[in-house]
Amino acid sequence: MKKSFGIIGAGNIGQTVAQHLLKAGFPVVISNSHGPDSLKGIVKSLGVGAKAGSVEDAAKADIVLLSLPWSQVSSLTGVADWTNKIVIDATNHFITYAPDFQVADLKGKSSSQVVAELLPGARIVKAFNTLNFKILAEDPKQAGGRRVLFISGDDISSKLEVGEIIKALGFAVIDLGDLANGGKLQQAKGSVATLNLIQL
Ligand SMILES: NC(=O)c1ccc[n+]([C@@H]2O[C@H](COP(=O)([O-])OP(=O)(O)OC[C@H]3O[C@@H](n4cnc5c(N)ncnc54)[C@H](OP(=O)(O)O)[C@@H]3O)[C@@H](O)[C@H]2O)c1
Repeated sequence: MKKSFGIIGAGNIGQTVAQHLLKAGFPVVISNSHGPDSLKGIVKSLGVGAKAGSVEDAAKADIVLLSLPWSQVSSLTGVADWTNKIVIDATNHFITYAPDFQVADLKGKSSSQVVAELLPGARIVKAFNTLNFKILAEDPKQAGGRRVLFISGDDISSKLEVGEIIKALGFAVIDLGDLANGGKLQQAKGSVATLNLIQL
């Protein structure tokens, strides 16, 4: 049976990743801070395999995707026992948006290291954060190749598992290493942020 996904944050990135997962047959519980009733329209448009749930419901899935604003990640600390849970961190640490796009001062850590501290015991894999959701939504098979997604993580087995799932969605995967180094390349304003590559 395919792993279940819990998506926390039902906006642009949450819905975009949900679409790819559903297309590949992964069941999805999607959530926001306003509760399942507020997600009826989104779940209907996502179609078969999608359910609305609370944040707590989403956190119970096999793999959790964080697709909520950076400022809200700290609200998740107490919603679950995060020990050993695979958590994909798609957030970017923006504290303001257009036109100035300021990022939080992380005191030398990568943003996913900060997320790891907020979700104790979680096995964090950074992914799905580098491309605008409109590009991410497109068919990953492009120009005779596959669109590249980057991953970083400290836990090798969870990184491998997430990498295989991303490949099953049709993307190519480049592993940038651990959260301290790869995470920094990958995060907002990092060297590969917004880089849209096709692997031929
Ligand atoms: N947009 C992009 O192209 C893009 C690309 C890469 C990465 N990202 C990153 O992905 C994250 C989401 O971006 P987005 O563009 O998808 O934002 P968005 O469209 O504004 O969606 C954010 C979602 O998070 C939910 N949310 C807010 N606070 C929450 C909480 N405390 N608990 C659970 N859900 C909560 C919102 O719903 P409610 O307010 O109803 O709770 C909404 O469904 C951000 O960290 C962003 O930097 C975005």
